[in-house]
Amino acid sequence: MAGIYVHIPFCKKRCSYCDFHFSTTFSSYREKLIAAICLELDLRKSELKGIPVETVYFGGGTPSLLTKDELSDILHTVRSAYQLIDRPEITFEVNPDDATTENLIAWKALGINRLSIGLQSFQETDLAWMNRSHSTQQGEEAVRLAQTLGFDNISIDLIYGLPELSNEQWLSHLNRALNLNIQHISSYCLTIEPKTALSHFVEKGTLSRPSEDQQSEQFDLLVSTLASAGFEHYEISNFAKDQKYAKHNAAYWNFTPYVGVGPSAHSFNGDQRRWNVANNTKYYQEVGKNDAWFEIETLSASDKWNEYFLTGLRTKWGILKKSIADLGGFNPSELIQLETYLNTGLMIENQENYVLTEKGKLQADGISSSFFRID
Ligand SMILES: C[S@@+](CC[C@H](N)C(=O)[O-])C[C@H]1O[C@@H](n2cnc3c(N)ncnc32)[C@H](O)[C@@H]1O
Ligand code: SF4
Repeated sequence: MAGIYVHIPFCKKRCSYCDFHFSTTFSSYREKLIAAICLELDLRKSELKGIPVETVYFGGGTPSLLTKDELSDILHTVRSAYQLIDRPEITFEVNPDDATTENLIAWKALGINRLSIGLQSFQETDLAWMNRSHSTQQGEEAVRLAQTLGFDNISIDLIYGLPELSNEQWLSHLNRALNLNIQHISSYCLTIEPKTALSHFVEKGTLSRPSEDQQSEQFDLLVSTLASAGFEHYEISNFAKDQKYAKHNAAYWNFTPYVGVGPSAHSFNGDQRRWNVANNTKYYQEVGKNDAWFEIETLSASDKWNEYFLTGLRTKWGILKKSIADLGGFNPSELIQLETYLNTGLMIENQENYVLTEKGKLQADGISSSFFRID
């Protein structure tokens, strides 16, 4: 099985916290860029020859800025160049202000069956410093309208650990999210990325830096509130009802191959990671003409081991004993490390795997990096 990721590098506005790859001035070349994405999809079809494609994910940037024709062209290329399974999961990241009746109807007609809507916060003052292009009301209306029009697999993105966000306010955001009756929630702790407007606000003192204690208390509230409401915590930042996991993301965590197209998109084929240039002009000018628009790295045995721990330990599926054996097995010092985590309640051993406990999840990156190997 395999997945396809399509990166749409356009945004209406620059959100103050965001350091993903996007441009806000794209009208002069959008046609060329969409054509380059279709060309890349076609050029790379041999990479997934004979492999059924289960998931397609449109991320960004802001995929919901695509016109109906642009989206249709991309999906047509995907369908004709790759072997999609019957009823693949096709996810579309949506900014609430783009979720009009007309757009939602068009997206559904084109085969989009999962929406990931970026609400981010239920507080107007947060959306203002974030420089978001929508209000909280638009966020809630987007979800309700999508439901009315038949979307039954909806995820929302929420950020916690925000400057001045109290635990009471965070709890009220979670309750408003639960009132929306959605199937999936992705919730991320705010990271203050260097060179963003947010890092500037914090350095100047315009916004206060959230404390680590506040962020971990809010993570605890997130986990307990969503668990009480019947959501399964299946990855550090992801919660699903009725097993409506994000299949596409779960595939990344389980080392399934995927082709990522568009500027800055990453790909993985089991042995190599590849990433495209994070520059829109360079991308559309060079795709298909030379090899200067992407880089490839072949993973060493240690790289594969390290990545397996980093991604696997974040999920409810954990790290499989069989995969650990395939990757060479634990060495004596790693076994001692493992025993320590099991004895201190940070990890649990099951018949087929090892998983982090809720307490362990708070230290997921530290625990996985303690198993890292250097070539
Ligand atoms: C790159 S965005 C794309 C989605 C869409 N453009 C949007 O803004 O809703 C993916 C998600 O990453 C999260 N994110 C981006 N930057 C973040 C940051 N600095 N800290 C925490 N979460 C962040 C947001 O929740 C966002 O919805
Ligand atoms: S958060 Fe989303 S909408 Fe905002 S700049 Fe980043 S990608 Fe664009």
